[in-house]
Amino acid sequence: MPSGLTGRLVACSLLMAWLLFLVSSNSSSSSRPGAEEEEAAAAEGADEEKALRVLVLLPKDNAYLFSLARVRPAIEYAVRSLEANGTLLPAGYKFRLFYNDSDCGNRAFFSLVDMVALRRQWPDLLLGPVCDYAAAPVARLASHWNVPMISAGALAAGFSAKTGEYSHLTRVSPGYAKMGEMFLALFRHHQWNRVLLVYHEDKEQRSCFFAAEGVHVVFREAGFHMDDFAFDESAKYAEDVVRAIQASERVVIMCASSDAIRNIMLAAHRQGMTSGDYAFFNIELFNSSSYGNGSWKRGDKYDLEAKQAYSSLQTVTLLRTVKPEFEKFAMEVKSSVQKQGIHHDDYVNMFVEGFHDAIVLYVLALREVLKNGFTKKDGEKIVHQTWNKTYEGIAGPVSIDANGERFGDFSVMAMTDPETGTQQVIGNYYGKQGQLEMFPNVKYPWEHKLRIDDSRSSEQTSNAACKSSGGLGESAVTGIVVGALLGAGLLMAFYFFRKKYKITIERRSQLEEYNIGKHRQLREDSIRSHFSAA
Ligand SMILES: *[C@@H]1O[C@H](CO)[C@@H](O)[C@H](O)[C@H]1NC(C)=O
Ligand SMILES: *[C@@H]1O[C@H](CO)[C@@H](O)[C@H](O)[C@H]1NC(C)=O
Ligand SMILES: *[C@@H]1O[C@H](CO)[C@@H](O)[C@H](O)[C@H]1NC(C)=O
Ligand SMILES: *[C@@H]1O[C@H](CO)[C@@H](O)[C@H](O)[C@H]1NC(C)=O
Ligand SMILES: *[C@@H]1O[C@H](CO)[C@@H](O)[C@H](O)[C@H]1NC(C)=O
Repeated sequence: MPSGLTGRLVACSLLMAWLLFLVSSNSSSSSRPGAEEEEAAAAEGADEEKALRVLVLLPKDNAYLFSLARVRPAIEYAVRSLEANGTLLPAGYKFRLFYNDSDCGNRAFFSLVDMVALRRQWPDLLLGPVCDYAAAPVARLASHWNVPMISAGALAAGFSAKTGEYSHLTRVSPGYAKMGEMFLALFRHHQWNRVLLVYHEDKEQRSCFFAAEGVHVVFREAGFHMDDFAFDESAKYAEDVVRAIQASERVVIMCASSDAIRNIMLAAHRQGMTSGDYAFFNIELFNSSSYGNGSWKRGDKYDLEAKQAYSSLQTVTLLRTVKPEFEKFAMEVKSSVQKQGIHHDDYVNMFVEGFHDAIVLYVLALREVLKNGFTKKDGEKIVHQTWNKTYEGIAGPVSIDANGERFGDFSVMAMTDPETGTQQVIGNYYGKQGQLEMFPNVKYPWEHKLRIDDSRSSEQTSNAACKSSGGLGESAVTGIVVGALLGAGLLMAFYFFRKKYKITIERRSQLEEYNIGKHRQLREDSIRSHFSAA
């Protein structure tokens, strides 16, 4: 490790330590959360007792699908309906919402520290952040300070390590590892145990890297054989990807923008790979309402080819449910978001819905905790009340597992009519039951052709085996390391990363914003090099 690096590492830890010291010394005379040493009027004190301070940490930048402007109406809708109901919220309790820009970086952490250190206010609940690297330090502080944290993001597999520093985190959206479980069920259904993971690696947002990691973590556990190929959409890639597939496995899971998927499928089609010798899967989680009616169609001269190619492609999306209440919610959110000048098709995505349900979950847990004679300050008690629980969310039932992770329901879509190119749901996966229900009478293009289990292993072993252990294998390990290990480290790594790669945070265009990933991430090698040495 270069010495300059060490210096900065030390400086950073000192800063961290100092911040923590500042906070703890400030609060040492008072016992902890909410203790008002300022001799507030008695009535005001009682008010404080029953004020539920929620610190919402989300990015201001509307390029993110979970920006403050998009999510705020959903949170306020939830608060309004809980306060209006009169029976759900314990008597006298009122929400007080604070919003801060998390910026998908350290800013979330600083906001939390500021709130406590400078304003001497302890949040009773943290909502967000969504970006993994913003969420990690906040989650650590949450467990240190015994504050419950609920997020509809922080989807990386590493956050499921709840025994240590992420002990106070509950995830109300299915993380990538839950999606991995869905793929596992699907592969078992088809009797496959080998896969090639192809993903777009942008070295910035990295949501496809983390999505692929989620599959990797679950498949590794199951002893499947895996290979992986990362590519960069900003360069030429389609031919490279197709060559990589030809040299590897015949079942391929891809994560990339819809344009990239189309280009890859066109290239594969031209190589004669779309007549049943290969099976392609595409991960499309966050834009699913708009999916299903011809994503192959662009109105260009390749439409016909693309339609043929897509007969070998199946898409995995979130299974979305709707109920009457949801319509009203969606309308209100839509009109609030539109008032802020944001226009797109999908106003209520997984994150928007998730943060609504987060508030509801918190209130349910709080009621239980109060009933058992504890207070809103018993953070750990509240967190554990949010686990192993099924309740009614805005769009349908929400089930949180015993580890504080939402079970995921997913749909598989496929082209059911090659003439018109119509794509439809051909099966659903219900995470809580761990049950995959594929519809009967679906014709698979690879029927009888694809028996992966025995065919590939002999010709492939040397090459693929090496690559998979060096590629995503280690990255996946890194993900867990990130999850489990680094105290102040992540902050430092982030700092180095910014220095080293000079990320410029650009405003993305309206068109791009649908395609971008959700996380601003570190390169795995930057973490690995710093923390294997640290
Ligand atoms: C409050 O919520 C409960 C549970 O969802 C429901 O049964 C009840 O009808 C609601 N009350 C009002 C006044 O909306
Ligand atoms: C958080 O929000 C408060 C006001 O709501 C503001 O005073 C503070 O500067 C913000 N903190 C950060 C780090 O943005
Ligand atoms: C296809 O999707 C678009 C929006 O993405 C929608 O306007 C259109 O009605 C859909 N068509 C069909 C046949 O579902
Ligand atoms: C989860 O809750 C069910 C009842 O709702 C209970 O039987 C089960 O033991 C709980 N599991 C854990 C791990 O707490
Ligand atoms: C998301 O939906 C919008 C509107 O239907 C569409 O224009 C965009 O291409 C979609 N993005 C992806 C990644 O599919």
